[in-house]
Amino acid sequence: MTNQVDNSKRRFLTLATGAVGGVAVAGVAMPFVASFFPSERAKAAGAPVEVDISKLEPGQKINAEWRGKPVWVVNRTPEMLSNLSKIEGKLTDPKSEGSEQPEYCKNATRARKPEIWVALGVCTHLGCSPTFRPELAPADLGADWVGGFYCPCHGSKFDLAGRVYSGVPAPTNLVIPPHKYLNDQLLLVGEDQ
Ligand code: FES
Repeated sequence: MTNQVDNSKRRFLTLATGAVGGVAVAGVAMPFVASFFPSERAKAAGAPVEVDISKLEPGQKINAEWRGKPVWVVNRTPEMLSNLSKIEGKLTDPKSEGSEQPEYCKNATRARKPEIWVALGVCTHLGCSPTFRPELAPADLGADWVGGFYCPCHGSKFDLAGRVYSGVPAPTNLVIPPHKYLNDQLLLVGEDQ
């Protein structure tokens, strides 16, 4: 009789231990599972962003944001485009060989469609956001300024294709993110497949 009681007690203890062990294993396993799959918030932070360019007039710039960084979209006029080839001698990397852009933007205008230019608005020196200076020959930028971007932090200058001028702190051209056109009015930044 005593034996029977002891046996059943032992069986109960064995089962109880197994159950607790199972809970402990599940408790340890969950954080791994959770960290293996990105959260919805993390996915949204890295997700591509649609930019409506239907109201972007020639000569204008609009701003968007992708992965927490400013994205610029500029509609360049024919005059702005023709000036790009005139200043190549003043640039550090006119052919964008040492700069970051998708292969389809490694061309004279650094763009998929020549007039529409997309870039990250982050200076390649220490990360300030340069200002848009599309005007010709302003007093502070000199008589030969043909429009571009000026970084107020340490004076780096970029042209309207984001190519950096020689003799300034920024080492490379502005970065161009992957992007594609969903139609004539809608741009998708962050994805190009
Ligand atoms: S951060 Fe732009 S020049 Fe230094």
